[in-house]
Amino acid sequence: MVNVLFVCLGNICRSPMAEAVLRHQIEQRHLSDQITVDSAGTGDWHIGKVPHEGTRRILDLHGISYENMKARLVSGDDFGKFQYIICMDKSNGDNVRKIPGGEKSQLLFFMDLLPDEELREVPDPYFTGNFEQVYDLVNAGCEVLLERIITDKLEQA
Ligand code: 4NP
Repeated sequence: MVNVLFVCLGNICRSPMAEAVLRHQIEQRHLSDQITVDSAGTGDWHIGKVPHEGTRRILDLHGISYENMKARLVSGDDFGKFQYIICMDKSNGDNVRKIPGGEKSQLLFFMDLLPDEELREVPDPYFTGNFEQVYDLVNAGCEVLLERIITDKLEQA
């Protein structure tokens, strides 16, 4: 099993969007029995809440499910469980590294999946209001990530 964790600050806007989009792409490729996806935040303000209305609206527009998704905090247990821990911006990475065990964790940064984009961090739509921009980045980046997982993990198994 390959396990992917997306991390942002509140776990209500960007990382749940990435979780839902990647899970949808995985289902379309019939790989749900080989890859799991989750998301978590480094801030505790929204624990237990469903994704932000802007994230829900854009996922609805694209027919992508966010059923049963609730915000949670990143924890030290995640470091042993997830082979891919993908931070949406640099401060998320700094916050993850402050969690006990996190200083040694191997982190990826979402925008490294999209090296041709000028943006080097996924903008936070909680502040920008631009959920469409985040959806376009997330959709493109998740396609790259899924191809990478297939090549690096599934075809090697
Ligand atoms: P996210 O966006 O990290 O993409 O979920 C945010 C959501 C909530 C807050 C900040 C960012 N907040 O400060 O409550």
